[in-house]
Amino acid sequence: MQSPKVERLKINYKTLEEFQKFHEYGLPELSMLEDLEANMVENDNNSPFYGIYQDGNLVARISLYRVDAKYDRYFEPAQDYYEIWKLEVLPQYRNQGLGTALVSYAKSLSLPVKTNARHRSDPFWLKMGFQPVRYNPERDRGESPYVWLPPGVKLRD
Ligand SMILES: CC(C)(COP(=O)(O)OP(=O)(O)OC[C@H]1O[C@@H](n2cnc3c(N)ncnc32)[C@H](O)[C@@H]1OP(=O)(O)O)[C@@H](O)C(=O)NCCC(=O)NCCS
Repeated sequence: MQSPKVERLKINYKTLEEFQKFHEYGLPELSMLEDLEANMVENDNNSPFYGIYQDGNLVARISLYRVDAKYDRYFEPAQDYYEIWKLEVLPQYRNQGLGTALVSYAKSLSLPVKTNARHRSDPFWLKMGFQPVRYNPERDRGESPYVWLPPGVKLRD
């Protein structure tokens, strides 16, 4: 099977309409809507969202934020890393490898990747080659952090 095509999503009204189909719809989407209404962006290509379309419809998405090395409290040596948010595949498209394709895209950027395993998704992250991080209440504040390490990168103690 051909691997699904992952595309960077444009910030426009069509994308925001597509986002309403996803369960996780909140402040980031509303702030994009405000920016659009204030004419601050149109078809902006620098969105943190990537997605997969099938038959012209957005069916899976992920948000990837690049965190600057100066805020890194996970990796050794300290470096820029990607944080995954809002990974979601629409229910009828699950278990077809789309989640894997989006996570593989994040890993292909060759920086460490961190996420917060929500919705009891721990087994999924383990399958994706992520590992849990020893919980530090002050740093992790209720999150369930999982990370993926590229070669040569270690976890900070
Ligand atoms: C988690 C999620 C993104 C997975 O997407 P998907 O496209 O169904 O995943 P894939 O088809 O690529 O599955 C890859 C593997 O993970 C397994 N898997 C998928 N979802 C899983 C879950 N929630 N728990 C455990 N294993 C899971 C699949 O069975 C598959 O295993 P296999 O390779 O042995 O067959 C999707 O179920 C989803 O959107 N869930 C709701 C939101 C969510 O939980 N987001 C992630 C937490 S932030």
